[in-house]
Amino acid sequence: MQSKHVFIYTIGCQMNVYDSQQMTAFLASDGYTPTEDIDTADLIIANTCTIRAKAEQKAFSFLGRLATAKARRPGLIIAIGGCVAQQEGERILRRVPHVDIVFGTHAVSRLPDMVRQVAQRRCRIVDTTQVEGIDAHEFLPTIATPSPVSAFVTIMRGCDNYCTYCVVPHVRGREASRSASEIISEIEGLVAGGVREVTLLGQNVNSYGEKEGISDFPELLAQINAIDGLTRIRFTTSHPKDLSEPLMCAFRDLSKLCDHIHLPVQSGSDTILKGMNRQYTRSVYLDRVAQLRTYCPTIAITSDIIVGFPGEDEADFQATQSLIDAVGFDGLFVFMYSDRPNAAATRLPEKVAETVKRDRLQQVLSQQEAHTRRRHRALVGQTVTVLVEGRSKQDHAASGGVGARLPVQWMGRTDGNKIVNFAGVDEGSGERRNLTGSTVDVIIKKALAHSLWGEIAPRR
Ligand code: 5AD
Ligand code: SF4
Repeated sequence: MQSKHVFIYTIGCQMNVYDSQQMTAFLASDGYTPTEDIDTADLIIANTCTIRAKAEQKAFSFLGRLATAKARRPGLIIAIGGCVAQQEGERILRRVPHVDIVFGTHAVSRLPDMVRQVAQRRCRIVDTTQVEGIDAHEFLPTIATPSPVSAFVTIMRGCDNYCTYCVVPHVRGREASRSASEIISEIEGLVAGGVREVTLLGQNVNSYGEKEGISDFPELLAQINAIDGLTRIRFTTSHPKDLSEPLMCAFRDLSKLCDHIHLPVQSGSDTILKGMNRQYTRSVYLDRVAQLRTYCPTIAITSDIIVGFPGEDEADFQATQSLIDAVGFDGLFVFMYSDRPNAAATRLPEKVAETVKRDRLQQVLSQQEAHTRRRHRALVGQTVTVLVEGRSKQDHAASGGVGARLPVQWMGRTDGNKIVNFAGVDEGSGERRNLTGSTVDVIIKKALAHSLWGEIAPRR
């Protein structure tokens, strides 16, 4: 079979990163190998996101830039997948004349067939069919991961929560969970290939298996914890309303489950939480955080905040700020609210001005910076266990020209997901041990704004 190249441009969340890996896996049987060089690609795929208006704009500007490539190379096939494709469907063919394939969030497994049809008949195809449930044939074993050490595994798709600002239920469909046996065998395969850490993905992993009555999330975690050769388990995202006591116990009881939870709060104001249809109050959220910390005192908690939801006044915003101080998050992602197609909040009248949103965003970012610094500083002098993901970026910069004289620098993460850069031992013989994939004890020497700096701890 003739080798052809596919270039995939991934926008958005970790789930899209996983979906792009799935596209690579499905296309491999048709002779496509991934390339980083867009100019040599026979097939270009934009895997898109529509969670916020900006992500959608990014997709269309990428597609726009492909017009000249298509004019120069008419045999080039251009496909758009993911959430924008699902949302816009046929409209994309009218808006972007050089697009050949529009495939939605449930159509990844049918992609090779669509590509074959376009190659043979030069037709244009739209497939945005969505189904209830999830079929084993929609997934293949992952053949490439973003890092050799750490991989994503989707355990469920879709969402039934209908938060009023959110487009996800409209573009990813109804919630559906993969079977535990399928997930376990996918992880076993990844571990056999050298992966040490998996991040389980879903819009709301806490409700895994609920609809199907297959197993629940803590049970699934216990099964994954038993996989030999796996070092760490992470998951994202959790909905605070579904954070159960058995899951909190899992943090205490499962040795491989990292002490980190991403628990999006979105707002600290009860009025806004109600308007968002989040189904919990500020005090319920704070109680859950306190309870989590009793089960797992070292747990790192990160969150998402939306500023400028329709109707958010100064008092609501202050409630968010006071919640941020009350929790003292380890990290925050902060977003300015944007209207999304079909999301209920789009129809709410009291829109907040862009300038106010921008100002609130800045305020929250600087407020959080102080918390992140404080948490980083608290680690100085402590020994932490780091799972090494590879050479540090600083190493590549530092080694320009004089690399041989400098000790190698490595990058990894703590259990609590904090990035640590550290100098490896320079044995002086030119033979340096590759630490990628191993766990190393590191003494933290310096706290930086976004990372920590340390040295390998002497062996006890
Ligand atoms: N506007 C701004 N932020 C949004 N998010 C989801 N929808 C919107 C929107 N319409 C944010 C939420 C969510 C994260 C993934 O993206 O904070 O948790
Ligand atoms: Fe969107 Fe809410 Fe579902 Fe998360 S839980 S994907 S924010 S609707």
